[in-house]
Amino acid sequence: MLQKTFHIITFGCQMNVHDSQWLGGALRARGFAEAPLEDAQVVVVNTCSVREKPEQKVMSALGRIRQVTGGDPRVLVGVAGCVAQQLGTTFFEKEPQVRLVAGSDGIGAAPAAIERLLDAPALRLSLLDFTESYVEREPGAPGPTQPVAYVNIMQGCDNFCTYCIVPYTRGRQKSRSSAAILDECRAALENGAREITLLGQNVNAFGRDSRGDGVSFARLLALVAALPGLERLRYVTPHPKDMGPEDVEAFAALPQLCPRLHLPLQAGSDVVLKRMHRRYDRAAYLDLAARLRAARPDLALSTDLIVGFPGETEADFAATLEMVRACGFMSSFSFCYSDRPGARAALLPDKIPVAVARDRLLRLQALQDELGARWLQSRVGATTTLLLEGPSPREGDAAAPSWQGRDPYGAPVHVPLPVGADYCGKMARVVIVAAKKHSLVARLQGDVW
Ligand code: SAH
Ligand code: SF4
Ligand code: F3S
Repeated sequence: MLQKTFHIITFGCQMNVHDSQWLGGALRARGFAEAPLEDAQVVVVNTCSVREKPEQKVMSALGRIRQVTGGDPRVLVGVAGCVAQQLGTTFFEKEPQVRLVAGSDGIGAAPAAIERLLDAPALRLSLLDFTESYVEREPGAPGPTQPVAYVNIMQGCDNFCTYCIVPYTRGRQKSRSSAAILDECRAALENGAREITLLGQNVNAFGRDSRGDGVSFARLLALVAALPGLERLRYVTPHPKDMGPEDVEAFAALPQLCPRLHLPLQAGSDVVLKRMHRRYDRAAYLDLAARLRAARPDLALSTDLIVGFPGETEADFAATLEMVRACGFMSSFSFCYSDRPGARAALLPDKIPVAVARDRLLRLQALQDELGARWLQSRVGATTTLLLEGPSPREGDAAAPSWQGRDPYGAPVHVPLPVGADYCGKMARVVIVAAKKHSLVARLQGDVW
């Protein structure tokens, strides 16, 4: 064990990944260094409870920590995130090494709590309160240049989709102040970012809570898009019901806004959508997709889907397949419904047997593979721009090593580039020459800048 070292293990969504990165930066600013698990003095598990056996995943991570550290009581173990929010101090009884439990809002105070706990070996601390408003967090030590930056614009969710645990683990929606968001975006751009993704559980409801400062989501997009140095803007995750005309119009008005939208559909049957409390139907979703594509004809849609929601019939599932085809999603994340204790759908009758749900998932994923392959194939021959993220070691050769980047649709693209330069964070003009199973291959055809 090395003094003043930390190790973070992260489960869950982009917001958790972002929280972990922030925590790492804040600990570095306090003089800690990142270390492998076996050397770390502080170990934090940042947890997710959205699906399947989250508690078991955390317990097995804690078991591994105990094994690797030999249960050394000088190693401070913390549990943060959504499972921590739900199970709270029960972690103190489950695992003696755990001395810090920090929920969704509590994680902001974790760096100070960690220092306090290291000075007081008998102490245990829990940070489980939800805050009234979005609390700004202490700045971290600037990390290495990241071409793609993620910026939180809100915390929590008020939608209470009946299957979902997030409103319980992340609390009520709290918009961050637009000034703080813009400051963070500016700092990221000064640190070399060229693409910004705005993050939240329901981003396009930004500003529509009591913490809103009068700036709407569409206005925020325009303000961020206008920041000098920004090449690309994305956001995740919007809710179809909150996608107003001005949000659609942004795809026509803002060239920085990438022609890619992740727009969770969840199910294709109106009956199921109603039971999920999604507050749109298939017609409304299709109409929205058509308006989005009218605003930006090359827009690529991706989505999230759940199969096996309680009561889902074969006809309901067929309606999902039909919607997936009609929308032509370039990609999707799909899941078998999983009961979340506390969420309303857990109380619904007619649970779908696991084997039936699995079979539907496989059929859905086979369709998505077909659509994904078709979408990738349709890109062959196109000229486009990449934001290069790093070398792609399994591609290219010694004379022209291959680099991986993303096109404006977010698809991974490999491109061989002349040896000897660091292309990380550079943009390149390329032509797509081939489609692979999950990525594209390109040839340089113009500038790198
Ligand atoms: N706020 C985002 C993301 C929520 S969680 C949104 O509204 O889309 C990410 C995805 O997990 C969801 O879109 C949903 O598809 C899936 N999910 C959430 N709860 C689930 C559950 N109980 N069972 C299966 N999938 C679930
Ligand atoms: Fe969950 Fe629905 Fe909120 Fe997304 S919008 S986080 S699925 S409750
Ligand atoms: Fe998981 Fe919490 Fe994110 S439940 S998906 S880590 S908001």
